Amino acid sequence: MIDQETIQRIMDAAHIEEVVGEFVSLKKRGANHIGCCPFHNEKTPSFYVSPAKGIYKCFGCGEAGDVVKFLMKHEHYTYPEALRWLADKYHIEIKEEELTDEEKQRQTERDGLFHVSEFAQKYFADLLFSNEMGRAVGLSYFHQRGMSDEIIKRFGLGYCLDEWSNFTDHARKNGYSDEVLEKTGLTIFKDTDESGTAPKHRVYDRFRGRVMFPIYSISGRVLGFSGRILTSDKKAAKYVNSPDSDIYNKSRILYGLFQARAAIAKANKCYLVEGNVDVVSMHQSGVENTVASCGTSLTTEQIRLIKRYTPNVTVLYDGDSAGIKAALRAVDLLFAEGMHVRLVLFPDGEDPDSYAQKYGSAQLQDYLANHEDNFILFKIRVLLDEVKGDPIRKAELEHETARSIALVSDMLERNEYIRQCSHLLHVSEDALTNAVAKAIATKSSADKTAATETPAPEKAEAEPQPQTPQPTASYPLPEVERHLAKLLLNYGNEKLYQTYKDEDGSERELVYTVAQVIIGEMLSEQLSFVHPLCQRILEQCTLMIDLTGSVDTSRFMNSNDEQLRSFAISLMIDTYTLCEESWKKKDIYTPKIEDNLLQDVSDSLGTFKSMRLAQMIAERREQLRTANTEQQQQLLAEIKQYTDISRILANKLGQVIAPRR
Ligand code: CTP
Ligand code: MN
Repeated sequence: MIDQETIQRIMDAAHIEEVVGEFVSLKKRGANHIGCCPFHNEKTPSFYVSPAKGIYKCFGCGEAGDVVKFLMKHEHYTYPEALRWLADKYHIEIKEEELTDEEKQRQTERDGLFHVSEFAQKYFADLLFSNEMGRAVGLSYFHQRGMSDEIIKRFGLGYCLDEWSNFTDHARKNGYSDEVLEKTGLTIFKDTDESGTAPKHRVYDRFRGRVMFPIYSISGRVLGFSGRILTSDKKAAKYVNSPDSDIYNKSRILYGLFQARAAIAKANKCYLVEGNVDVVSMHQSGVENTVASCGTSLTTEQIRLIKRYTPNVTVLYDGDSAGIKAALRAVDLLFAEGMHVRLVLFPDGEDPDSYAQKYGSAQLQDYLANHEDNFILFKIRVLLDEVKGDPIRKAELEHETARSIALVSDMLERNEYIRQCSHLLHVSEDALTNAVAKAIATKSSADKTAATETPAPEKAEAEPQPQTPQPTASYPLPEVERHLAKLLLNYGNEKLYQTYKDEDGSERELVYTVAQVIIGEMLSEQLSFVHPLCQRILEQCTLMIDLTGSVDTSRFMNSNDEQLRSFAISLMIDTYTLCEESWKKKDIYTPKIEDNLLQDVSDSLGTFKSMRLAQMIAERREQLRTANTEQQQQLLAEIKQYTDISRILANKLGQVIAPRR
């Protein structure tokens, strides 16, 4: 239990954009910060953070809340854990009150693991610089591998003395329990067996005699370790890693992400390497947007971690056959997550680290810049060599290529691959297009049987946003959108009255604001504006309505986003002058806005919806001409869906908002 006053102090101190910013790459947009939602998969940002209101909201999946909710949802913290995390970040002291037993237990367990890991990291790092053996063995090893003291410190590297239980003894002396030492895997406890062949030492340090690479969480907490052997003893494992525990799960961690995340967001690109030494070496060479999936082959969870910062991944694996194989496996997974993948193949026998050591950082950067290949071409180039003169294996390669292309979720990108690959493979584009379509069909039927719930197709693909909307009526769509945006900005908070008959037949009245009606109608039909600025006005108004129940146009007036501000202001001014001028001319009082508003909002929404639906139907009809069988089915289903909505809409029009009496 944390007392109310402390909670208030924590909440006052916390800046939501800073907290969310630790996990999501945010860009300032006007009064808000926006980024790609960490709670669902998306390519275009619809995740908003409002520093002024202290809240976040995703327009894609609807997830919303305050800073504490974010931590609970994202880090799977309990409420007190989230508060403690914040208190820690903002240096606020917590006066403890009684915890429930369950809370106490869970917290002490995890905290114990965190504490001992951090303690171990400090100890190992300290030995490296201030212990004689640490310096002579550990530090000189790192130096010999070309690492500077600065980079060693940045990565918190260390050394575990080559004694049975030096670390364990030290930890025990400092009050750490055997339980946490065992759970983190820092200490191994062995029972002596009857035969007496087991080691004399019942307790020993897992990492004894190894140089230590601590593994950090995204927010910089020590979760585990990877220890490298110093000798070239072929029998012992080159790397030993922490076992999975309550705080360490290797398939959800990327080595170096804590140190790399800002650079990844900034470069909008992530280099993926195989080993932790490669990460350190790349960072030292100035390529800081580098991470490794150390100790495991890449997992989907790891890819999703990268995706929070960028959709662009360049895979840098060794040029030997094991490296190529690992790269190809990684790439199929990356594709399946909708990432944009590129590849750099190092000369046989080199990895990023050895290349950097041999040629220096300038040449490494140069090599990276000039050897990026798109993956499918890379794959074909690698494999073509092997299948030369063997028609059966060549056919297999074509098949395999089609399967890889089928994993690319973006249709345009897919077509580009088909074009390039058909050229490389010497097959016709049509033949490859067909093969890809077949692979997609097989894949989706496999998906359907594998999962009870098939993921909805990404909106970006199902509904390509037209650059130049093709209005189907005489009165162009952009005008209707502008008009609705104007209504939102100028009359968003005006009240509208809707009457309906209750079950007992009595008449009831509902009061909505203009903004609530427009937003509600847009959301319920899942419609968006085509014009990007109109859409942004809609999104921001939705956010404000969600938060405060009203539209605050000063947000747009004061927006730092030049484009949005001037667009919004033009919509506002335009209406004001029009009204005043025309009413003045007619020499009448300014009318009661509501009377006309009802009809106006209702008509505009109706017109917009039917036009937008007609447009979406027309687009799909157009696409049908060039679609393959699989795509045709999808398109036809969508056309039917939109036609149904328009039909319902036609019946409903006019009763959406009934005028007051
Ligand atoms: N690895 C592991 N266990 C092993 C061997 C390797 O966990 N027994 C992991 C390590 O994270 C290592 C990565 O796989 O960094 C790549 O292994 P490898 O290419 O063999 O090593 P390098 O990264 O080149 O390491 P070094 O340069 O230190 O030899
Ligand atoms: Mn290496």
